[in-house]
Amino acid sequence: MLQKPFQFDLQMFSQKFEFNNKEIIGKGFDSIVYKVTNKQDKDQYALKLTSFKDMQHRFNFQQEIRLLYHLNHEHIVNFFGNSMDGSCILIEYMPHGNLVKLIDLQLDLKIIKSILNQIMSAVKYLHQMNIVHGDIKPENALISRDFIIKLCDFGFAIIQNQPNTKLRGGSEGYTGPEVGANDDYDAKKCDMFSLGVVFFVLYIGYRPFLSTHPQRQDKFWNYIKNKEWDKFWKIFEAKKPDVGFKNYIQKLLCADPNERYTIEEALQDDWFKSNQYSISQLAQQLSIHLTKQ
Ligand SMILES: Nc1ncnc2c1ncn2[C@@H]1O[C@H](COP(=O)(O)OP(=O)(O)O)[C@@H](O)[C@H]1O
Ligand SMILES: [Mg+2]
Repeated sequence: MLQKPFQFDLQMFSQKFEFNNKEIIGKGFDSIVYKVTNKQDKDQYALKLTSFKDMQHRFNFQQEIRLLYHLNHEHIVNFFGNSMDGSCILIEYMPHGNLVKLIDLQLDLKIIKSILNQIMSAVKYLHQMNIVHGDIKPENALISRDFIIKLCDFGFAIIQNQPNTKLRGGSEGYTGPEVGANDDYDAKKCDMFSLGVVFFVLYIGYRPFLSTHPQRQDKFWNYIKNKEWDKFWKIFEAKKPDVGFKNYIQKLLCADPNERYTIEEALQDDWFKSNQYSISQLAQQLSIHLTKQ
């Protein structure tokens, strides 16, 4: 096991770690993630690498390192260290990748609620510390060796009540409509909106809308914005969504952030709390579904 936090320069790193033929396990917007193996004890890790485009990008990446350094939660990826120049992050290797692969599996509601519950417990921990993730989506939630769900990618995260703490965008289709449109909003509510989109995608199989941007005039989003929920749900009728699911989604995807659930309310919702798997039961379910593939 590595002594944490492990700080390295890249030359020292390549002496200690093997790059597994440069096996790329993920690509993000500005980063590449490699699988690496400690030559000594053969433990595997993920190395996230970036090259800085500009000052803002450098700030975001270093903010990610600073946050990961302080975070410690069972549903957030474990941080092991970083390069001295701040361009690489060493994190625990998550062999089952991100949640995107679950979308096509048509998992039942009980499994999906239990997955959401794990992500939400990480979000509760963050929000209690006034940290907003800012980019919650299936690509940024990973599945560990033991089939535990963990949030990753703090590249858009902010600490509220500090300078330079406006959300910087996030991902279209997952970001609350207030981002960019309004200067004065509670960024935590943006995470709640993204959680609603993630829940929807995992259960229905595709996104509820492509964009909330006014210029895009997304028909599906306009139904929600105008509170024409009947018209919105009619589009997804063939999927026969559960009534409890619809009500719950309506508490997360509301256009007005003041009407949206807080993380505590979302976790305390009676329908959401009922009929869920424990962490070990969910791991068993996921292992069955993911090894069947
Ligand atoms: N620790 C990890 N183990 C396995 N795969 C990972 C790990 N971290 C990231 N990935 C993969 O790499 C992708 C990009 O990583 P991410 O941190 O989201 O970078 P970006 O900030 O560029 O989006 C993720 O969507 C995921 O598929
Ligand atoms: Mg990402």
